[in-house]
Amino acid sequence: MIIYPMKAKTVPCIAALERLCFSEPWSQASLEAELRNPLATWLVAEIGGQTAGYAGIHQVLDEACVTNVAVDPAHRRKGVGKALMLALENICRREGSAFLTLEVRESNQGAIALYQNLGFEEVGRRKHYYTHPTEDALLLTKFFAREATL
Ligand SMILES: CC(C)(COP(=O)(O)OP(=O)(O)OC[C@H]1O[C@@H](n2cnc3c(N)ncnc32)[C@H](O)[C@@H]1OP(=O)(O)O)[C@@H](O)C(=O)NCCC(=O)NCCS
Repeated sequence: MIIYPMKAKTVPCIAALERLCFSEPWSQASLEAELRNPLATWLVAEIGGQTAGYAGIHQVLDEACVTNVAVDPAHRRKGVGKALMLALENICRREGSAFLTLEVRESNQGAIALYQNLGFEEVGRRKHYYTHPTEDALLLTKFFAREATL
């Protein structure tokens, strides 16, 4: 597996995975706009020349939030999601983020297990945050500042 920053030529594959994985996918145009967003970092994981997954963050001052993470169903449970999240965490630490936060559907037990195994803590809930279907979001956060004192 290799992991590298999203490029213009990988956007169509990512947009296709978005449509496959989410009921409200990011459009190809909004993903292309992320290439020009100075606050955005998106990483792509490639296995055998194929786009296996991707994950993105936005960073504002010392705060970072996950914009999305998804892995092609054909490549799940091979450590791709974990590798992408760890790579984003390394960028956050290197660039001085105090924490990395994200929202996840409360029914998304696979993603919640991934995040909890990485040390994310539940810090809140956003009522009816998602549509199609309507569902609460759990707010999970990993605090890097705390790691230094542990
Ligand atoms: C959530 C998702 C990104 C996980 O990607 P993945 O590459 O399959 O995850 P990994 O193989 O890196 O899993 C790492 C660990 O997370 C946990 N985990 C991941 N998927 C899991 C699942 N479906 N059920 C239970 N635990 C799971 C396990 O502890 C796993 O370790 P293990 O395989 O050794 O048991 C993937 O299932 C996905 O794309 N889902 C659809 C999109 C989505 O829901 N994105 C999250 C939006 S918030």
